[in-house]
Amino acid sequence: AESFKYKGNKGNGGELHQLPESDDQRMTTAQGCPISDNQNSLKAGQRGPTLLEDQVFREKMFSFDHERIPERVVHARGYGAHGYFESYGNASEFTCADVFQRKGEKTPVFTRFSTVAGNKGSPDLARDVRGFAVKFYTKEGNWDLVGNNIPVFFIQDAMKFPDLIHAAKQEPDRGFPQAQTAHDNFWDFASLSPESVHMLMWAMSDRAIPRSLRFMEGFGVHTFKFINANGDEKFVKFHWKPVSGMQSVVWNEALKINGADPDFHRRDLWDSINAGDFPEWELGVQVFDQAFADSFEFDVFDATKIIPEEQVPVTKIGKMVLDRVVDNFFAETEQVAFCTQNIVPGIDFTPDPLLQGRNFSYLDTQTKRLGGPNFTHIPINAPQCPMRHFQQDGHMAMTNPKGRVNYEPNSWERDENNPRACPAHGFKSSSQPMEGDKLRYRSETFADHYSQALQFYNSQTDVEKMHIQNAFVFELSKVEKLAIRERVVSHLLNVDEELANAVAKGLGLTEMPEKAEAAMATRTDLKTSDALSILKNGPSSFAGRKLGIFCC
Ligand code: HEM
Repeated sequence: AESFKYKGNKGNGGELHQLPESDDQRMTTAQGCPISDNQNSLKAGQRGPTLLEDQVFREKMFSFDHERIPERVVHARGYGAHGYFESYGNASEFTCADVFQRKGEKTPVFTRFSTVAGNKGSPDLARDVRGFAVKFYTKEGNWDLVGNNIPVFFIQDAMKFPDLIHAAKQEPDRGFPQAQTAHDNFWDFASLSPESVHMLMWAMSDRAIPRSLRFMEGFGVHTFKFINANGDEKFVKFHWKPVSGMQSVVWNEALKINGADPDFHRRDLWDSINAGDFPEWELGVQVFDQAFADSFEFDVFDATKIIPEEQVPVTKIGKMVLDRVVDNFFAETEQVAFCTQNIVPGIDFTPDPLLQGRNFSYLDTQTKRLGGPNFTHIPINAPQCPMRHFQQDGHMAMTNPKGRVNYEPNSWERDENNPRACPAHGFKSSSQPMEGDKLRYRSETFADHYSQALQFYNSQTDVEKMHIQNAFVFELSKVEKLAIRERVVSHLLNVDEELANAVAKGLGLTEMPEKAEAAMATRTDLKTSDALSILKNGPSSFAGRKLGIFCC
């Protein structure tokens, strides 16, 4: 095709631009109309004013004005890449999930790593939990494994999540800190929620400042269910193990990196994939049955507890390789919508009250974030297997049903546009015995918030222990209210005395607080009437100084 000469008016920026050499380089409006001048608006006379008639200008500005969508309410800062999952073919004994059936078969995936608390523009090396979300585009629908790089969570019940996140993100009056756990509100909430102590230990460890996204573990956190072709059910915990091993930076490095290159993690992932150095993780599972769950010293539906690998070893069932960067950050990384409710036949939920709440939250927030109910039509979210259903219309509907039929039952001829549910092969919920009255209650089996915190602390080397102590001191030294610092130390006394002493010393506490009574941990399952009485009378059962656990 013939190239054309630029004939725009002379003036600032009006003269020289590289001209298109062929039709396929020619700029157009969103309606496809070729643009002659993308630098100068249409004016009355040489010096304006600009004419309202200029549809090219108006369309350009309109599009720009609407570029931003709400950032994720959590995990706003993230970075994603494409790749594949290769099954080892050894999991079919436990699950009929199609993705695991055939050894060597590859399933496309999209993975997004993230920090939790920081806003979209916050630095990569913040001390924080990292999200580790994987979307498997399986032949039987999308399966989203929406995990973190820490295997436990701060809270046990989704009811508390809005409070946890309000407390963790910037404080509402001052609008900071934007990406740190180092502030009063976070530690206030955490110290009043003893169930968070186990995860605090992980969050203060080197795991919360990974050197690279490529060197992190990932965890599904909750107990899920596997169901095999015979309908046999087992419980399962998911693990991602980085093939290159785990590495972290130390805190001083993190601070410097944040200043020098806040994009350190995303640049590292981008560079390594483009250099052909593809990061890999093996997917491992801990599979166990009801008898183990009954005998285990903690409740397997409590997301603040792990199942030690010594008790249930991790079996590797496949490998994920990330080998392609995105074409467009917004279209893919920003618009991707991971959702815990996206599961496939062979996998199921458990009654874990955190997981149950997540299943509501993700779809709800994404409907707002992505502008309506049809965000599954966006290519990054669309399944890569056939979809046949009667859902229709709504904003931005791209894949409405074809043909005359959009209801069931119907007597029209059955074909690909007239699908039916399939009892033999469709998704079936697992069984789960249920009984009891409706009540708001935290099960006593969810108590003991300190034993696994100690187990984790003891699993660390001396240097790693020192890092944990230093992290507590650094973060708490930013907390203004003394009572909050003391309250955290009072919990640490229930974990390990040496740790509590080191933190108290680092903070310059003149008096060591009493232990937050271990009994308190179990009393978080108080009935409302008991809790009210404590609120009224104070936690009188506590030994030593009252630390205002229930009332400040
Ligand atoms: C993102 C809610 C716990 C991992 C999100 C989002 C919400 C949310 C609303 C933003 C989703 C979006 O806009 O696309 C919750 C609730 C939780 C909870 C209500 C507890 C009740 C967890 C836990 C994990 C986790 C326990 C890890 C196992 C993630 C990840 C993302 C995320 C990785 C980012 C996904 C992405 O990269 O787009 N969560 N979350 N969340 N959540 Fe949670």
